[in-house]
Amino acid sequence: MQIHTTIESLRAARASAGRVALVPTMGNLHEGHITLMRQAAAHADSIVASIFVNRLQFGPRDDFDRYPRTLKADCERLEAAGVAHLFAPDETAMYPQPQHYFVEPAPAQVSILEGEFRPGHFRGVATVVLKLLNIVQPDVALFGKKDYQQLMVLSNMVRQLAIPVEVLPGETVRAPDGLALSSRNGYLSAEERAEAPRLHRELSRIRDAVRLGDHDFLKLETEAIAELAAHGWHPDYIAVRRRSDLQPPVHADDPLVVLAAAKLGQTRLIDNIEV
Ligand code: PAF
Repeated sequence: MQIHTTIESLRAARASAGRVALVPTMGNLHEGHITLMRQAAAHADSIVASIFVNRLQFGPRDDFDRYPRTLKADCERLEAAGVAHLFAPDETAMYPQPQHYFVEPAPAQVSILEGEFRPGHFRGVATVVLKLLNIVQPDVALFGKKDYQQLMVLSNMVRQLAIPVEVLPGETVRAPDGLALSSRNGYLSAEERAEAPRLHRELSRIRDAVRLGDHDFLKLETEAIAELAAHGWHPDYIAVRRRSDLQPPVHADDPLVVLAAAKLGQTRLIDNIEV
């Protein structure tokens, strides 16, 4: 695997990389990322992974400084997964001057759910992803469904700005007890880690109830919030939404997804499940 820390080096390698699949990450790689790399291999001659902890998408109270940085271990995992090129710029390579140009996602998409609790987050994500797409010029780019709203925002960005790349979603990878794999799981104490799968259990409970015909979404959401709160969580939201735009469902046959974000101790976890 070749490691590129500058845009010039990555671009020079890109020229002979054939059909390229890009998997953007912030590092601290786990099986969810590696599954995306394997999926990417089926769509391209070369996989380009990127590792960049993007300051622009972190709010002032977010965990930018303590976000786990594990480049050496990440490189070993990427190498083993058959990744041809790693783009791992530092901040001055990625943002040589303060960034003055931004992608401003549609307010309707970013004022809800994650956007309500993390103002500016998707603007930072969309800006860095557009920049990565411009640098790597991949044929396909893969993003996990674990960040469901991110996937929607980025798919819409690519469509609306006619960016010549195909966006492919990757399924969420879970621990055997149901907890969605996430770099932030590493922040959990042993006690919190034992409690954490409750989030997925509550989402599954809502999914099962909706599948059985219970469409009182507010009641289902309220019950799940109460159940989490009773076990020490601080839920930000649990919401049944239509998959297409993450707005509240209108028609009985709208394909649905249940999304949640909740804090357990100091750690904020997100998850979702399609109905
Ligand atoms: O999902 C992530 O890890 C990040 O939001 C991404 C897409 C790499 C942009 O920084």
